[in-house]
Amino acid sequence: MKFNILTLFPGTVGCFFKESIIGRAVENEILSVNIVNIRDYSTDRHGKVDDSPFGGGRGMLLQPDPIFRALEDIGDTGWVVHMSPMGSRLDQRRVRELSLIETVTLICGRYEGIDQRVVEAWVDEEISIGDYVLTGGETAACVLVDCVARELEGTLGAGESKAEESFDATGLLEYEQYTRPASYRGMEVPDILISGNHEAIRKWRMKRRLLNTMERRSDLLADAMNRAALSDEYMALLAEIEKEKGDEGDTGDREGL
Ligand code: ADE
Repeated sequence: MKFNILTLFPGTVGCFFKESIIGRAVENEILSVNIVNIRDYSTDRHGKVDDSPFGGGRGMLLQPDPIFRALEDIGDTGWVVHMSPMGSRLDQRRVRELSLIETVTLICGRYEGIDQRVVEAWVDEEISIGDYVLTGGETAACVLVDCVARELEGTLGAGESKAEESFDATGLLEYEQYTRPASYRGMEVPDILISGNHEAIRKWRMKRRLLNTMERRSDLLADAMNRAALSDEYMALLAEIEKEKGDEGDTGDREGL
């Protein structure tokens, strides 16, 4: 998969692709990233790429011409995305869909944003990574590339499984995990995880996923139910949890969970 990233801060974006799992995906040519400095397409003597908004108002806007010229120079821009807090919010479903596209071009805005004519002429989709405002689209672009890249075949190594992670097909959150030592500063790992009983561990983990999702993101659980995304086994565990919660109301006991 190829990403073109248009930015005024190529260094901010560039370092992200040099290390760790994403760096390895680039090295292994699972992912290719073409970082384009918008300033290189300025025709101004001083490399100016921004100006104040017509109609007045605060801040500076990126002018259309450098961005138009950068996009024209890329040629095959594929699916063009403007990273913007005005966009639709990125979720794992959209991440999976984007990972199926061959070429994606990300436009990172700065200052107060970009001239709307860029959006009208070039942009297929505007994406926000959350309901907050960043100083620019660069970090948002890195977030998008990161989660899309890990969907690509071969990005994750053998020990970096996507199975049973938060937002798998069930949409449930993860279970808690522990590593050695089993006892640390008086805090113990749940007995069941060191019991060696794989079936009991599997069930405990499924139950913890249900409970975590119930307690932290009831919207995700409701969504999973609406989509009928939970197996019979999950549904049976859910009924068990509901029953335990009922009993707990009677006895105040939360045995094992
Ligand atoms: N640019 C500024 N804020 C942003 C956000 N929340 N998502 C995507 N791009 C942005």
